Amino acid sequence: MTSGMTIDIEQLLEQLTLEEKASLLAGSAMWHTTPVERLNIPAIKVSDGPNGARGSGGFAGSTTAACFPCGISLAATWNVDIVHQIGAAIGEEAKTKGAHILLGPTANIHRSPLNGRNFECYSEDPFLSARMAVAYIRGLQSQHVGACIKHYVCNDSEFERNTIDSIVGERALREIYLPPFKAAVQEADTWGIMSAYNKVNGIYASENPYTLLDILRDEWGFEGIVMSDWFGTKSTAASVNGGQDLEMPGPPAWRGGKLLAAAQAGEAKEEAITDSARRMLYTIQRAGAFEDPTDSPEQAIDNPAHRMLIRQAAAEGIVLLKNEGEILPIDPAKSETVAVIGPNARTAQIMGGGSAQVNTHYRVSPYESLLAKVGEEMEVAYAIGTTNHKSLPVLEAAWLATQGGQGGFAGEYYDNLDLAGSPVFQEAIQSSERMWFGEFSPDVDINSFSARFTGTITAPESGRYTFSLISVGLTRLLLDGQQVIDNWDEQQPGDFFFGMGSAEVTYEVDLQAGQEVELVIEYSKSGTMPLSIFRVGCLPPMVEDTIGEAVALAAQSDIALVYVGHSGEWETEGHDRPDMELVCEQNDLVEAVAAVNPNTVVILNTGAPITMPWIDKVAAVLQAWFPGQECGNAITDVLFGDVTPSGKLPQTFPKRLEDNPAFINYPGENGKVTYGEGLFVGYRYYEKKLIEPLFPFGFGLSYTTFEYSNLQLSTTKIPPDEILTVSIDVTNSGNVTGKEIVQLYIADPLSSLVRPEKELKAFAKVTLEPGETQTATMTIDKAALAYFDDLEMSWIAEAGTFEVRVGASSQDIRATASFELQESASFDGPEKEPIALSIESTMKDLLAHEEAKAVLSEHLPDFMDAPQLGMMMGFTLLQLQGMAADLLTDEVLGKINEGLRGIR
Ligand code: BGC
Repeated sequence: MTSGMTIDIEQLLEQLTLEEKASLLAGSAMWHTTPVERLNIPAIKVSDGPNGARGSGGFAGSTTAACFPCGISLAATWNVDIVHQIGAAIGEEAKTKGAHILLGPTANIHRSPLNGRNFECYSEDPFLSARMAVAYIRGLQSQHVGACIKHYVCNDSEFERNTIDSIVGERALREIYLPPFKAAVQEADTWGIMSAYNKVNGIYASENPYTLLDILRDEWGFEGIVMSDWFGTKSTAASVNGGQDLEMPGPPAWRGGKLLAAAQAGEAKEEAITDSARRMLYTIQRAGAFEDPTDSPEQAIDNPAHRMLIRQAAAEGIVLLKNEGEILPIDPAKSETVAVIGPNARTAQIMGGGSAQVNTHYRVSPYESLLAKVGEEMEVAYAIGTTNHKSLPVLEAAWLATQGGQGGFAGEYYDNLDLAGSPVFQEAIQSSERMWFGEFSPDVDINSFSARFTGTITAPESGRYTFSLISVGLTRLLLDGQQVIDNWDEQQPGDFFFGMGSAEVTYEVDLQAGQEVELVIEYSKSGTMPLSIFRVGCLPPMVEDTIGEAVALAAQSDIALVYVGHSGEWETEGHDRPDMELVCEQNDLVEAVAAVNPNTVVILNTGAPITMPWIDKVAAVLQAWFPGQECGNAITDVLFGDVTPSGKLPQTFPKRLEDNPAFINYPGENGKVTYGEGLFVGYRYYEKKLIEPLFPFGFGLSYTTFEYSNLQLSTTKIPPDEILTVSIDVTNSGNVTGKEIVQLYIADPLSSLVRPEKELKAFAKVTLEPGETQTATMTIDKAALAYFDDLEMSWIAEAGTFEVRVGASSQDIRATASFELQESASFDGPEKEPIALSIESTMKDLLAHEEAKAVLSEHLPDFMDAPQLGMMMGFTLLQLQGMAADLLTDEVLGKINEGLRGIR
């Protein structure tokens, strides 16, 4: 798809009726905009987003797609080049799904570690978030696929996510929450922005004229489209007048005929409708859809180049948090036996939950990757140790065979609710979970259908199996023709699938190894719930004492690798985590293994900080996040030193939840959440309050060491419009090739407004051979020195001394230097008339102005010499009259006011 066909948008606009313009401003279906056939205006297609291109199907059972590392994992690379490549690869993926716009990246800020979507977001730091968002969007859009950065703005937790009112101060909004969006607009030219579900200071983000019109359009000059989050439009006229172009999905709840009526009644402004229609046409043009209006079929293309890129990026995002006695990398020559323990060893946890899920082409587990790497050289033994599922694990599709001998289920669809008559559609699925979300076969009305899925399971071992069903819609499970789970006639509500799912219903049965059982799921759905799904769980036989078994194995092994963490069920859109602990018995497992094996290495799959009560007892810890489909390979690459770890934390790991800055205001009450920590998000807070974190922002170890020397500034005095260049030499002082992330923080020790101790303003990543030295060069401009003055409503870089602090993490500063900004600069604020001076101005403002000072000296010569003058600076002359009525008579004040007239 290329843009460029000359369409005269203004001419097209003139030909559109009001009704047609209104129709452009809402989707026609779950992932499509509305075409205007009369004028050959095509629909365009969007797709989730952000760690892959899912296409129009659900998270499970739909066309498969590549699964990329999640947002926090990408940010942990601090590598804008690789994130650019990832963006470009996701652009290629989006094209295989026929999508013109990808719903990503997610650029909300890590305010609380409990946010269910923490994994999706990049960082607690606005600068790092902005750099990642810009790299990703530029990469994506290099493929002529548009980005839709989300969720604008202050959508930083999932608590009451559709209605919560984020009460945020102007400075925090400007300095912390908006920068990634601003950079996406001004530096990456993002095609789209998704408005958030929540309110911002009392008004829904989907109709907020301050954030959508004043800031986004007027200040930043955004020309792309603002689309709602799914079902996130809250009004007809207010949302159009407030600056939201597109309601998604369709058919619309608030627009279409309602919008036309609101326009005819004069409630929705015609000018706003025309402006939004113009932007829609511009976006359709950008997407190349006028030239090629075909709705391309979705394809599952497992691209080897994307496999490699995902593996490389996932490994580069892994953060080595601890490595006592240099136990890592593992040397197979030194350790003969390795115990592979933990629920995430055989199950690859590759992504968080919710709309970021894709039906991945494949997933590599740590266990299989380890076997492939060292299965011949080392003795590899496995014990699960404990489970960590919320609902039972999804039944392994590999245990299933259909009649034709393929894996998975044979599905038959019926055009009625009770499986009557002949099927109208058939498909084979390779998964025990099937979701329908939006668009499906034209033969099936997904708001009213039934279906039967049949497969044969061969029990891999003897013992007690627990099966389960969860569904949105009605389900029952039959084993060998006998109904064993009824989630049809009786169904209890549960909190799965954004709260739309049923409670889990289970059934236990004893099976013999090799025994074949026919398994049938019957499903029926009616109603307009946007999502339809069933999910078959199956817990295989377990030993009684799983931790005991793992401990016994660890005790006789040279090294114990413990793979623990979460899944997308625990860290998901729709729910925040209740606390910061590793779920289930996993802390007990780590403690128990570490107690018997001094060479215990913990590998964490989480998308957010957790507490680590066992940190002093284990030898090493790797933070692997949700690294995408190459999960196991990326972890193994780091464990064995094929990749030297270089990731650094994009988020502070506090020792305990109570230390987190959002703690006392989280999650909010009575419909509001106060961003009470203001500017002091993440390390800005821990540093200000001198709270020692478990691992600081920017922290990460390597298998080598780096020395910093020779910090140089291009000048020590700069005028506001000059750029300061900062360079520092970095030497690899260890024995292996490695990459170092050099971080540059700015401190402003003396400032008119309160500021954090220091702020990240530049970074560089360098690759160094052992013994090699390279110079890392970074630049600083006035924007990097500025704070947002919420009285002046503009950015101010204030004259005076600033400190450059360069280091390996926020708490590991290796060199500092000072420079002076010679003059203050105020920028990016609205044009303002200077304020007229009068007797209602403060003494400070009057005395700051030479002409005004002369007027005062003329009428109040004695007063001007009074020793108390210093204490009066904050008072207005009118206020001072109450204290010195004999001097400041009405007559004198009248004359002064006269003299001040015209002075600004
Ligand atoms: C999410 C968005 C997503 C959309 C479409 C919403 O629930 O908040 O991030 O793009 O659904 O799936």
